[in-house]
Amino acid sequence: MTAQHGVDAASGASEPAMTGSLPDGAAAVCPDPSPGRLQDVQVREMFDRIAGVYDVLNTAMTGGLHHRWRARAADLARVGPGSRVLDVATGTGDLAIELARRVYPGGEVVGSDFAEAMLARARAKVAAPQRTRVQPRFEWGDALALPYEADSFDAATVGFGARNFADLQRGLEEMARVVRPGGRVVVLEITTPTQAPLSLFYKLWFDRLVPALGRLAGSTIARSRSREPSARVTIADAYAYLPSSVKRFPVPALLAAEMERASLCEIGYVLTAGGIVAIHAGTVAPERA
Ligand SMILES: C[S@@+](CC[C@H](N)C(=O)[O-])C[C@H]1O[C@@H](n2cnc3c(N)ncnc32)[C@H](O)[C@@H]1O
Repeated sequence: MTAQHGVDAASGASEPAMTGSLPDGAAAVCPDPSPGRLQDVQVREMFDRIAGVYDVLNTAMTGGLHHRWRARAADLARVGPGSRVLDVATGTGDLAIELARRVYPGGEVVGSDFAEAMLARARAKVAAPQRTRVQPRFEWGDALALPYEADSFDAATVGFGARNFADLQRGLEEMARVVRPGGRVVVLEITTPTQAPLSLFYKLWFDRLVPALGRLAGSTIARSRSREPSARVTIADAYAYLPSSVKRFPVPALLAAEMERASLCEIGYVLTAGGIVAIHAGTVAPERA
């Protein structure tokens, strides 16, 4: 099994090319291990509390590029009319909605998450008439114990959710379990660029701007909802946690290796947005380990 990677700044709709190979002895890089990993229940509560500002802040923090990144992740899922797709940790459902556009006619998309407030936002989005011809179904599910039969989907995706998993390996194994042999598992995640000048810009953006936007959003919400004074702290904390969760996440080569351990093959990844975003994809092996 090999892993391939490439850096891709373009935005075409076709599947991004991947070239190169997984470096031997790829090492974990966890530059900032100090901030504690959150427990599942803390992650769920955090997303329940920030659901109302999540989409707005996503757009503000990425300049709207997050939609393009999701489209590229959907390309790598290789789904089409009639496909059954699961979007794990779907949040407010944007990746599920992107996938739903591709599976018409006859397809099905399930978006699962364990934060009900995020799911409520996702359901509200697809309730709007004509949003997509295939309506994703949004339902509660823990990514570490997915409530689906083995081999029941053609592909499984996760967008910006994997770094929150309390057990990444288990989350990957669960995604691989529910996908049929030959189907795809795609992981879209923020990553840490190592090369200047982008690494410098990234430090400024992620370590300063993102937490500042979180504090601003928290103050605004707290002012508008006097009955909920803790909202300011919660939202500010959540966006202070975000940079540390990214730094703790495996570097692209190591994530590829973890996907291989989860019985995936033909693993590849693309780095986009100048190396800030990594999209990994693998195929479920015809014969599982
Ligand atoms: C940063 S949001 C990403 C949402 C969405 N996928 C997107 O692309 O914007 C992370 C989501 O992962 C969910 N999540 C984290 N761990 C989870 C788990 N173990 N099971 C289910 N959902 C989980 C959170 O509830 C949250 O909605």
